[in-house]
Amino acid sequence: MGKMDNVAQEILITREQLAQRVRELGQQITKDYEGEPVLLVGILRGSVPFMADIMREIDLDVTIDFMSVSSYGGSTKTSGVVRIIKDLETPIEGRNVIIIEDIIDTGLTLHYLKGYLEGRNPKSLKICAILDKPSRRKIDIKGDYIGFEVEDKFIVGYGLDFNQHYRQLPYISWLKE
Ligand code: IMP
Ligand code: MG
Repeated sequence: MGKMDNVAQEILITREQLAQRVRELGQQITKDYEGEPVLLVGILRGSVPFMADIMREIDLDVTIDFMSVSSYGGSTKTSGVVRIIKDLETPIEGRNVIIIEDIIDTGLTLHYLKGYLEGRNPKSLKICAILDKPSRRKIDIKGDYIGFEVEDKFIVGYGLDFNQHYRQLPYISWLKE
């Protein structure tokens, strides 16, 4: 048993389940865009494993770019205003954009990002998240492509962190408070 196996209280979603679901999402996206090119926008750093996996399951002309955002101290809890640490390097006007995210929790981050990117007039803008915690929502926002719904637990693994740790776990687990 390796060191990191000790942190798994319980495996909620196995690597096999993740792989299967990511394959299905990739196939759905391939079907929905019918041969059109798509730009996948990964939100650093939690989307890294999901981005690496899903981009290989989409049979379209795929390009990728990344953004990095951070909350304004505690104010994001109420306002949802986020600070853009790293913006896109790619223009998105007239393009099909899919935001690739680790989890939709309160929804505040994605709500802000969606508005921010819509201002650049993409042809379409959708949200794809491997996890959704609908019970925590503070703003009405829905993902277009969702991997799994999870309960209100603190999730780690497959990109999700606790103080930057555990992102590399190949499965989804959770930490007790
Ligand atoms: P929001 O609350 O929907 O704005 O989520 C913002 C960010 O909080 C997500 O992109 C994740 O990085 C992080 N986050 C939310 N829930 C969890 C969790 O259960 N574990 C680890 N990170 C989380
Ligand atoms: Mg994140």
